[in-house]
Amino acid sequence: MIGNTPLVSLPFPEAQRSILAKCEFLNPSGSIKDRLAKTIILAAEQQGRLNPDSTILECTSGNTGIALAMVGAAKGYRVSILMSESASQERRLLMRQLGAELILFRPGGGYRTGILISEEMAAKDPRYFLPKQFENPLNAEDHEHGTGLELLAQTDGRIDAFVAGYGTGGTLAGCGKAIKRACPSARILAMEPAEAALLCGEMPCCHAIEGIAGGFIPPLLRSAPIDGEISVSSAEALLMTRRLNREFGLLVGTSSGANVAAALRMARDLGPEARVVTILCDRAERYFSTSLFAPL
Ligand SMILES: Cc1ncc(COP(=O)(O)O)c(C=O)c1O
Repeated sequence: MIGNTPLVSLPFPEAQRSILAKCEFLNPSGSIKDRLAKTIILAAEQQGRLNPDSTILECTSGNTGIALAMVGAAKGYRVSILMSESASQERRLLMRQLGAELILFRPGGGYRTGILISEEMAAKDPRYFLPKQFENPLNAEDHEHGTGLELLAQTDGRIDAFVAGYGTGGTLAGCGKAIKRACPSARILAMEPAEAALLCGEMPCCHAIEGIAGGFIPPLLRSAPIDGEISVSSAEALLMTRRLNREFGLLVGTSSGANVAAALRMARDLGPEARVVTILCDRAERYFSTSLFAPL
């Protein structure tokens, strides 16, 4: 059930443009991260790094935790997720419902605190297996051979621009490489929150586009063939996400709205014939307690 998601055309008549959007929110646990969870777990099994006694341990407050809990449940592995006490209730509930154990740490140090704790735990107990989504090359390779090749097949190999935000950078690096190889003139563009546009030299600051721009440039992004950046403010992202929800009937989260807003800006620049592709990353139900669902 993971992968092979549809590509839909989103018409914006007022701009005389359409955007092609890959429906990653239709993966079984509701996000693009299902791909990475499946690939990393299958590879670890093949390498003999996972056995019935193992526990999968990752620091993540978001979609990766839910995806690992889902694949772990389906394959019979224990899953422990390290997350900050500030992580939202709906995410915690989903992971628990899938049988994962949650280990909470005090907010403040961000991901780094959680990553340090996971490494200490793994050093003391060899039963822990760490997927390490931020540095595991399989993350980007899976998008290169999976998502990226699917996009090329769905567009008959003609893509003029690919636009995506980055969390780990896996999507941008992997899809970017596959698309550049097949369409060398395609532009690969990194979408960033305007409040934390690190690639544009801005300092990290709080923003409402959850799942992306965690306050540092992730290692996997260094290998991404990026041609430029597009910043989208939290307000613009929320506005476009509500449009996707209400005008298109697409129940997607805030980073999907930000991606489409950035892709539409690119499409305006490139002209009506250009094929601009982006990603609808996850489902709206993940954001009940955020400003996306705040009454207007
Ligand atoms: C909601 C959401 N959108 C986008 C992304 C970015 O994906 P990647 O980690 O491949 O850069 C993530 C990743 O965590 C996410 O959770």
